[in-house]
Amino acid sequence: MKDAPDPVKLPKGLAGVSVTDTRISKSDPDGSLLYRGYPILELATKAGFEETAYLVLTGKLPTRSKLESFTEGLRERAEVGPKVFGIMRELGQDANPIDVIRTAVSALGSIDAEKDLPGKQMSLEAKMSVLAANSHRVPRGDSPRTPKKDLRFSDNLLQMLTTKEATEYERRVFERVMMLYLEHDLNASSFTVRVVASTLADPYAAASAGLASLKGPLHGGANEAAMGMLLDLKEPAKAGEFLRAAFKEGRKVMGFGHRVYKQFDPRARICKEYLWEILNRRGGDDTLYQLCDSLEAEMWRAKRIPPNLDFYAAPIFYSLGIEVPLYTPIFAASRIFGWMAHYNEQVGDNKLIRPDSTYVGRSGLKYVPIEEREP
Ligand code: ACO
Repeated sequence: MKDAPDPVKLPKGLAGVSVTDTRISKSDPDGSLLYRGYPILELATKAGFEETAYLVLTGKLPTRSKLESFTEGLRERAEVGPKVFGIMRELGQDANPIDVIRTAVSALGSIDAEKDLPGKQMSLEAKMSVLAANSHRVPRGDSPRTPKKDLRFSDNLLQMLTTKEATEYERRVFERVMMLYLEHDLNASSFTVRVVASTLADPYAAASAGLASLKGPLHGGANEAAMGMLLDLKEPAKAGEFLRAAFKEGRKVMGFGHRVYKQFDPRARICKEYLWEILNRRGGDDTLYQLCDSLEAEMWRAKRIPPNLDFYAAPIFYSLGIEVPLYTPIFAASRIFGWMAHYNEQVGDNKLIRPDSTYVGRSGLKYVPIEEREP
């Protein structure tokens, strides 16, 4: 028998390790981000959400007719049945919205009538928005909000998330923020999705695993944690004092830092401008912007750590009147498209993802009967 080669030892958290080739997207430490080769700013200024989702999924910008049939395919599949809403309601008013969506996605794995893989994926992409928008209200006993037939994908999500009237500019900003959340190479949840896809499990299983990974505050949960921090802080002048206390207690400051971006996160820069513009157009109180700006300046002065997308997406959602527990669900409603792109890329050139580990435990121990064991 041939000896197995010694396993290659990799850094903790797989930091700086490339585990697969991908053509979907690329983030770079210099603060650049490409979706299928297109710079993020190019897409954020010129494209729409459905167009960007199509691009990320297929690798090509759609023709008009392809875009229409993609948009129509999503519309046709957006309806969530009463059985799934019933399961969500059963979880009760204290349920965490991401747990609610994850449970609903698992249920869809058994209930959804789609037969083929593209249909299943499109059904998940279309329904994730509806599940996200209802993930906080349905478990509390409120009636579900449903999509309207004639709206853009992001407008539809926004009208299900809040009844507050948004201006055309604000709706456009919401669409851009969703585009910025859509995809980000091998982030923790997309890697999780690829691990599940590599076992050839179905997309519902992969998406529910992706949701589990997204929930944590070091990943998707950070936008809600960042907003909680901004609401606690209240006064821009207290940013320095707030950070010093966090450092002293060894607490991470949510919405700051990134595995790839060490100078700046291009998505955060874009969102910072949107936040300023939303508040500026409204006139009056810009405290929320000043709070973010002073935290950013103090954090950079103290640690040279820049804000990430979550830090500036959160106050945008807040200014649009969206309740904080819905921020990570919005992330999921957008990232599902990226997850499905990763799912397809993985199964298209599959090898089971099953790494090795270095055993550092004991060996050769003798069994001790229970009555002879030391307390
Ligand atoms: N607050 C305080 N210190 C930080 C922060 C932070 N937010 N981020 C990094 N650091 C410090 C670490 O304490 C560490 O310091 P040390 O070397 O003295 O121990 C150093 O910077 C390196 O940090 P790591 O956590 O090792 O860097 P890593 O690349 O593993 O982490 C991560 C990236 C997890 C995002 C981290 O920056 C973090 O926890 N941030 C807060 C959570 C957050 O905002 N997540 C959202 C990510 S973006 C997204 O999901 C869209």
